[in-house]
Amino acid sequence: MPTPALATLPIRRLTIRDLAACADLSEDRGWPREEHKWGFLLTAGKGYGIDDPGGGLVCACVVTEYGPWDRPSLGAVGMVLVSERHARQGVGRRLMRHVVTTMSTTPLTLYATPDGRPLYEEIGFKVTGGAHTVRGHFTPGETRPRVATRPATGEDLPAILRLDEEVFGADRTHVVTRLPAFTDRLRVAEEGGRIIGYAGSWPTDGVQVVGPLIARDTETAKALVSSLAAGTDRPLRTDIDVRHEELLAWAVEHGLTATALHSVMTYGTGELPGDWSRRFAPVTVAAS
Ligand SMILES: CC(C)(COP(=O)(O)OP(=O)(O)OC[C@H]1O[C@@H](n2cnc3c(N)ncnc32)[C@H](O)[C@@H]1OP(=O)(O)O)[C@@H](O)C(=O)NCCC(=O)NCCS
Repeated sequence: MPTPALATLPIRRLTIRDLAACADLSEDRGWPREEHKWGFLLTAGKGYGIDDPGGGLVCACVVTEYGPWDRPSLGAVGMVLVSERHARQGVGRRLMRHVVTTMSTTPLTLYATPDGRPLYEEIGFKVTGGAHTVRGHFTPGETRPRVATRPATGEDLPAILRLDEEVFGADRTHVVTRLPAFTDRLRVAEEGGRIIGYAGSWPTDGVQVVGPLIARDTETAKALVSSLAAGTDRPLRTDIDVRHEELLAWAVEHGLTATALHSVMTYGTGELPGDWSRRFAPVTVAAS
């Protein structure tokens, strides 16, 4: 049977049952398999993809929606992947157009790799910011953090959700409530009995990713990162908003190296909602 033309293969919703095929696609493009992350994204967000008649997936991506469930105020696009065999044949363009059409008037955001950026620009996304990926073994400093941190408990959840919505600028309940299972460690920073920041760390590809990282100020962010680093022997990785220069410099002083720069791009909005000054790092660049 001849292979049907790529353009006629239907785009369908992906579910958690497609996890292995998504991880295979990551591997095909030289990315780590990241099954833990795919599992999180395919349950918290909506996956889209095309089946390869020869087996596996031709392409995939995930859109995580934020705000009211019936009229989201923001969609974060991530894990946009086209198999090597089908690259440069218009599949990525078709998939992104499908996402933009499906999301209708909902503003979109994504973190673009240099490979993806020309495609998103063609669709109409604009660069509105950036994030540095830093990674490496964290070396603790001499001075103890000035802000107190402790493990998050179930009772902290309402306060974490309130803080998160204020800082992120949209309700992320479906993502935040998954964090106790997704992260290895979830910690809060507290002052006078009030939660002023929170952060998690989760395992992937031999590193611990620090994210989300939400904090009242840089000192609080440092205390949270230090406390998460103290609980692991693995290298850390995090994606710090380029505007947080002080935290970036501090991370480098403590053994981390800037390895990549992602462009933050938006569609249908000039600027992301919320308070960037308290938003230091996303849960993952694949979901904001
Ligand atoms: C980026 C990616 C999704 C593009 O998918 P694709 O199906 O190959 O892209 P398309 O054929 O639809 O290309 C559309 C346009 O995007 C641009 N583009 C696509 N791949 C590009 C590349 N590697 N370098 C520069 N421009 C590229 C071109 O303008 C292209 O149009 P043209 O082929 O007519 O010149 C795919 O290459 C991929 O999976 N890369 C690895 C993973 C990755 O980096 N994903 C992006 C995460 S943000």
